[in-house]
Amino acid sequence: MTTTGSGILNTSSASREELVRQLTTRSPRDRNLLFRQAYQEKRKLVGNVTYLRGLIEISNICRKDCLYCGIRKSNHKVERYAIDPKEVLELAMFAWRKEYGSVVIQSGERTDREFIETITGIIKEIKKNTNNEMGITLSCGEQTEDTYRQWFEAGAHRYLLRIESSSEELFNSIHPGDGRHLFRDRMTALEILRKLGYQTGTGVMIGLPGQTAEHLADDLLFFRDFGIDMIGMGPYVPHQDTPLGILDMDSIPSPGDRLELSLRMIALARILLKDINIAASTALQALDPDGRIKAILAGANVYMPNLTPENMAKNYFLYDGKPLAKDQAQATVKELETRLKSLGETIGYGKWGDSKHYFKRFSLIPPLLEEKGRGGEVNSIPTGPGGEVKN
Ligand code: 5AD
Repeated sequence: MTTTGSGILNTSSASREELVRQLTTRSPRDRNLLFRQAYQEKRKLVGNVTYLRGLIEISNICRKDCLYCGIRKSNHKVERYAIDPKEVLELAMFAWRKEYGSVVIQSGERTDREFIETITGIIKEIKKNTNNEMGITLSCGEQTEDTYRQWFEAGAHRYLLRIESSSEELFNSIHPGDGRHLFRDRMTALEILRKLGYQTGTGVMIGLPGQTAEHLADDLLFFRDFGIDMIGMGPYVPHQDTPLGILDMDSIPSPGDRLELSLRMIALARILLKDINIAASTALQALDPDGRIKAILAGANVYMPNLTPENMAKNYFLYDGKPLAKDQAQATVKELETRLKSLGETIGYGKWGDSKHYFKRFSLIPPLLEEKGRGGEVNSIPTGPGGEVKN
């Protein structure tokens, strides 16, 4: 073992080999050191604050046919919905009153004019009704530069677009080869988002069929080299009504291993990418009721309570076992707060919780709003997500 007592990873200069070793080590000592280092880095670089984003899954209508995704176009078992923009505004206002600070507007991918204008209208209404105070992240797939610009000018300032895998070969193996799911297009879209000035987020699924530790190490290096501001990544969770979901379970790591790999990816991302925002993804919770708390202890600093009304959310199963909104809304935020408090963590109520990395990238001063809201005290440092969590 090459582990040293202080910091196993030489932060930003970690090699691919070292990352692979960290992802695959069976040594409990090394594993605990990794999580401890990641958590210490998190406290040092982004503090003990978890920021909230109320997640609104505004529509499951999708033009794409991703082989893993439950709302893929060809899944005719799903009832398609689009939430009325007025209701979207109400949900955003709920989030505002509860001081969530931000919302994420997520949707299946559509590129028609009506959809584009609807999103623009929703962004403008949310901004207008909250004195510009609500932060808005979009997660609406690949769009043209003009569309991204229109949404940015309307007031959205962050965008999540997962690369799914930074390996073109692996990407191609989980998407249809129909010319509509091109790795190159995804990469170009990310570049445009960054160029336009969005805080740009991406991520991958972890534990995909055919995915190796080397792929995951390369994903981390891709995040770093691209200069990504935010990461949302989590375990791949099969959905029974998808081509990938009916593959033999032997083709992917066990649920426990996918959870562990995801937590290690978060820890490594925190160490390697330092002051970016990292989400504790919902898919983690499909594998472990405590998955998202574990993610926070592994280095994540963003939590997205799902605000989608349940009658719609039941048709937004991207994967099997996805928790429903009612399990995650206000009651869960209170529960989260209590849990976090016992761990010396706080919730950044009323703050946008922007990516510090982004502001460094642009040498900008964070908006005034960032200065508002409650702060938190730093208590003792929990050792990691692997069962040492105090209740
Ligand atoms: N398992 C885990 N994540 C999934 N996503 C879609 N389907 C699945 C699945 N079966 C993720 C993709 C996509 C995001 C919106 O949801 O990474 O980018």
